[in-house]
Amino acid sequence: MEHFNIIQALCRSALSVPNSAVVQQVARLKDALKKGGDNKEAKSLESLLASSQIALEMTPGKIKQSFAIGRGDELTSTTPIPVDKETSTPLAEIYFGEDLPSEIPIFEDNIKEAIYSIINEWTKFDKLLEIEAYPASSCLIYGLPGTGKTHLAKWIAKQIGLPVALARLEGLMSSFLGTTAKNIGNLFAFANRYNCVLLLDEFDAIAKLRNDPQEVGEVKRVVNTLLQCLDSRKEKGFTIGVTNHEALLDPAIWRRFDIQIEIPKPSQMVSISLLKKFLQPLEFADNEVKLFAWCLEDSTGADVEMLAKWIKRAYVVDKEMNVSHVIRQFALLNSGRVNEKKRDMILNSDEEFINALIEDDKYSFKQVDIAPLFRMTTSSLSKLKSKMK
Ligand SMILES: Nc1ncnc2c1ncn2[C@@H]1O[C@H](COP(=O)(O)OP(=O)(O)O)[C@@H](O)[C@H]1O
Ligand SMILES: [Mg+2]
Repeated sequence: MEHFNIIQALCRSALSVPNSAVVQQVARLKDALKKGGDNKEAKSLESLLASSQIALEMTPGKIKQSFAIGRGDELTSTTPIPVDKETSTPLAEIYFGEDLPSEIPIFEDNIKEAIYSIINEWTKFDKLLEIEAYPASSCLIYGLPGTGKTHLAKWIAKQIGLPVALARLEGLMSSFLGTTAKNIGNLFAFANRYNCVLLLDEFDAIAKLRNDPQEVGEVKRVVNTLLQCLDSRKEKGFTIGVTNHEALLDPAIWRRFDIQIEIPKPSQMVSISLLKKFLQPLEFADNEVKLFAWCLEDSTGADVEMLAKWIKRAYVVDKEMNVSHVIRQFALLNSGRVNEKKRDMILNSDEEFINALIEDDKYSFKQVDIAPLFRMTTSSLSKLKSKMK
């Protein structure tokens, strides 16, 4: 069906903010497509609707009500934030709903569904308590830097419908003996007093301390404080920990979290969706987006975002930009973002670069896809290909 990819993108972005009127209209479209025999298109809308139905059931208001029963004081923009006694820096930054992302990061469907199901559980908070099952109230998100963990943590917090107290562990660490433990204690006392989600970002900072032999006593004290604090928070409110280096975390700390979510690097499909999102409002042809995704194999979401910005800048300078040329410049000047094998292929001669694309099984580029990327006609590409053999 012509232009269905645009219709699908429209539906996806409309459904990203749960809204029953939108769900109803997309369902109408799905039924009409099915009736008209466009089964593939109808199926793809059906799967979009399935995730949005879960999202709809967990509107923030419902969760907040469940979570806030008989809890503490309200956190407002005028509430004083505890500070480090030595440097007077605040121990946390406070984010209210309007400062938090309303779109879940782009992940594989199975990860998204798992996340939705945890959040959905909180809408049934009262029912769980009736059968003496306490819902999970802490989660640890781990994975490589730039995979969208902090974004996800903030989005989860937004779903809960409470403000977020975000603390970077690094910021709580002090060079004064005993002050780090005191800061952690003060931060938790604050989070336990007010209705909020406590977000402990870059949780692995403590592990760095552990590598310093001079700090053994201090580390023990800090880890113990953290363990006690995490225990004290169990029935007080929701806690999210985020770490890039889960292997460095103390196993006892690890066990304190009810749920652990690993965020992988984006797959080919996810990279393509990320590219389309970050390239907006520009629209590129499918073969161009596929080439961008091919270049970013093994890269993180943050790398995809950087490439998209790069392409946008090139586009502003020259609307008729030569796509393969832009990719070469990116690979040349972003050695840390493009994997080494791909970088070699990209920076090779046109012939070698084209050959690498043709031979890639995962992306299955056709000659008609590749030729325009190199400003060639399909017949000159065929000639080049037979010359290479
Ligand atoms: N899967 C994703 N979906 C949407 N945006 C992403 C994704 N992965 C990374 N990003 C973007 O990349 C940047 C870095 O993400 P962030 O959440 O800070 O990563 P992390 O905390 O894992 O280091 C942000 O602008 C974020 O929106
Ligand atoms: Mg982060």
